[in-house]
Amino acid sequence: MPWWLYFEANLGCGAGEEPHRMNWLVTVVADLSGRTFLLTGGNTGIGLATARALVARGGRVHLACRSRQKGEEAVAAIAAAARAESADGVGSVTFLPLDLADLASVRSCAAQFLALGEPLHVLINNAGVAGRRGLTTDGFELMFGVNHLGHFALTAALLDCLTANRARIVNVASDAHYQAVGIDFAALRRRTRSFTGMPEYAVSKLCNVLFTQELARRLDGSGVTAYALHPGVVASDIWRRVPWPARSILTRRMLSTEQGARTSLYCATSAEVATVSGRYFEQCAEREPSSLATPELGERLWAQSEAWTVVSSDASLR
Ligand SMILES: NC(=O)c1ccc[n+]([C@@H]2O[C@H](COP(=O)([O-])OP(=O)(O)OC[C@H]3O[C@@H](n4cnc5c(N)ncnc54)[C@H](OP(=O)(O)O)[C@@H]3O)[C@@H](O)[C@H]2O)c1
Repeated sequence: MPWWLYFEANLGCGAGEEPHRMNWLVTVVADLSGRTFLLTGGNTGIGLATARALVARGGRVHLACRSRQKGEEAVAAIAAAARAESADGVGSVTFLPLDLADLASVRSCAAQFLALGEPLHVLINNAGVAGRRGLTTDGFELMFGVNHLGHFALTAALLDCLTANRARIVNVASDAHYQAVGIDFAALRRRTRSFTGMPEYAVSKLCNVLFTQELARRLDGSGVTAYALHPGVVASDIWRRVPWPARSILTRRMLSTEQGARTSLYCATSAEVATVSGRYFEQCAEREPSSLATPELGERLWAQSEAWTVVSSDASLR
């Protein structure tokens, strides 16, 4: 589907005023002192807004980004904003290098985090690309490689740490996953075929939902919980390839990035969903995902992702 049709189909889902950002945050997100988060793609967009909120509530956040310069600028901006907004002391934020389009970089990021010896209470797999065409370093379709496979490899490499801390895993998916008509596994090993990249994006987001469900199934009883979500249609940098005059008009009615961060924050921190796992959320509420999100397809995607990334053979995941 062309980007403008996707946009038209999804408008009107919550754009509006945001008069009391800190009120929402303080009401919904508990004090996060002593809680450690690793968030991918936090240098801009929904990820940046999510990280800002976590730090403002006292969390320790590791921002995993592909650009050192953008990542370090975001770290400085988040720290400054948190100091300005809170009189009671705030959390902390650091940068970790991560290119999800390169599995060696993914492994190195996980190793760098684990070498710190810190606990990990919440992993937020937020980073994503849309409407782009290409191949990852390891030869996977670009959006599948970044949006699903890189996050699969990162999560697997951190799994012992996540299990030791009875952590939450939050996968930022999209309601675009409803547009996927299935997974052509052969196509995942080829360069993006479609002109708009939207069919491939939809498949990558269906993979986020399937991965979440399969994590819940495999980690049942471990104390680890997993969540997939649609953040809303958000005026972030994801629309950067839409030509400028059109972009300005189209993004005007979208959610702000702060509003778009809310369902991620809810899944990452709310006591209401502490024992819920494997579900799909939108506007801080559960929603039924696509009927294509079946255990059979989830199991097949997991097995294929595992084979393609050569991850842990931990018996607890079998
Ligand atoms: N905005 C929406 O309307 C919308 C709707 C549904 C779902 N989502 C989902 O929300 C999530 C966040 O998107 P957003 O809207 O905040 O988009 P965004 O503003 O474009 O931010 C995307 C983030 O992902 C990072 N990223 C891209 N490729 C990467 C790679 N290879 N390795 C590491 N990081 C990479 C980007 O880094 P750079 O800055 O270096 O490119 C950026 O930090 C995505 O998963 C997206 O699919 C967004």
